[in-house]
Amino acid sequence: MSSETSGAREKVVLAYSGGLDTSVAVKWINETYNMDVIAYTCDLGQGQDIEAIRQKALRTGAIDAIAEDARNLFIDYFAYPSLAAGALYEGKYPLATALGRPLIAQLMVRVAREHGASAVAHGCTGKGNDQVRFDVTFQTLASDLKIIAPVREWKWTRTQELEFAAKHGIEVEATKKSIFSTDQNLWGRSIEAGILEDPWVEPPPETFQWTTDPRQAPDEPEEVEIGFEAGKPVSIDGRTLDGIELIDELNRRAGRHGVGRIDHIENRLVGIKSREIYEAPAAVLLHEAHRELEFLTLSKESLRFKTLVSQAYADLIYNGLWFSQLHQDLMAFTVSNQQYVTGTVRMKLFKGHTMVVGRKSENSLYRHELATYEEGDQYDATAALGFIKIHGLGQTTQAKYQLLQGTAGHRLELPSIIPPSRPEQE
Ligand code: ARG
Repeated sequence: MSSETSGAREKVVLAYSGGLDTSVAVKWINETYNMDVIAYTCDLGQGQDIEAIRQKALRTGAIDAIAEDARNLFIDYFAYPSLAAGALYEGKYPLATALGRPLIAQLMVRVAREHGASAVAHGCTGKGNDQVRFDVTFQTLASDLKIIAPVREWKWTRTQELEFAAKHGIEVEATKKSIFSTDQNLWGRSIEAGILEDPWVEPPPETFQWTTDPRQAPDEPEEVEIGFEAGKPVSIDGRTLDGIELIDELNRRAGRHGVGRIDHIENRLVGIKSREIYEAPAAVLLHEAHRELEFLTLSKESLRFKTLVSQAYADLIYNGLWFSQLHQDLMAFTVSNQQYVTGTVRMKLFKGHTMVVGRKSENSLYRHELATYEEGDQYDATAALGFIKIHGLGQTTQAKYQLLQGTAGHRLELPSIIPPSRPEQE
């Protein structure tokens, strides 16, 4: 018997945040697609009561609602690997939102299978990166599932959306709607739109929730010691902590000093530049501390090559290509590259800044007996002479036979951004 003749409707798993868009989406999907909605909510450390959100989904008309804690999955398989890989999009954004999407989509596919759903849905608009990350993940993991994106499809103004909500008795939060569009999880908060759309405007105080204005931050710096094992953070001030505790604590401590504010004009995958503000105290601090430990423990060549991997990895995350072979390849490199990145980094937090003040590792490639100018020096300085001759040979040869031909030798024309030489220098 087909579901039609039996009267049972097909099911769709909707990524449900509890906000207006996804609440309206429940009813809109019921009407537009004649499908039953299973609401899916997961905790990635966004600091919301997911059970309350689940209850709201049921009140809003979902036939079933699932809420689960995915914080450990998020840290172990998304945030920490991205940290070890050094993934900062365009050198700035620690990728909190971008890392959350493929995990949410993957968990939704599992729920769709368990409940025999034929579709999945999300509340992303048609202008951002998040729709790409959701859709590509769905298409990759479950190409048979239909994808519904109500907000992208209904093309309503806010007023029309509110009218629809009123008509269907959908709860609209009594508190006035945030003037920004935000997304958050343990790895960071993303804030955009509203007044922030003017890139000349300094973000007003209301933009920030996790970080103190650096001007109001404590007048005394605070020191924090972060321990890493093979590229993974494991302790704070000598206390071994699990990922949730560790990131929570660093978000609080670094946030109190105003650390982790990022103002980024970023290149979206969909071709536009957008202005996004981020608050990511723990992620910023961990990235800096981790990098410092790499300076101590990676060879010069590994360190240089790693920057290429970091950039490729960040782009892949940003562009929604998490479930690709390239990801596996880059992670294989990262795991190998990080095997000696074990040790402790001392960081100071002060008025919006982090500063490294010390580092140590049992695998340190900084060798005192090679670096010292004091007693115990084992470096063979006499060998430097021959080395310098050979190292400079290409350049000295070129100068002699090309660059200095026909000149007195000291008047080498150098390229410069300053306009060509001023006559009075003759
Ligand atoms: N621009 C960031 C990204 O593409 C964050 C997107 C979500 N931001 C938001 N304010 N809703 O990953």
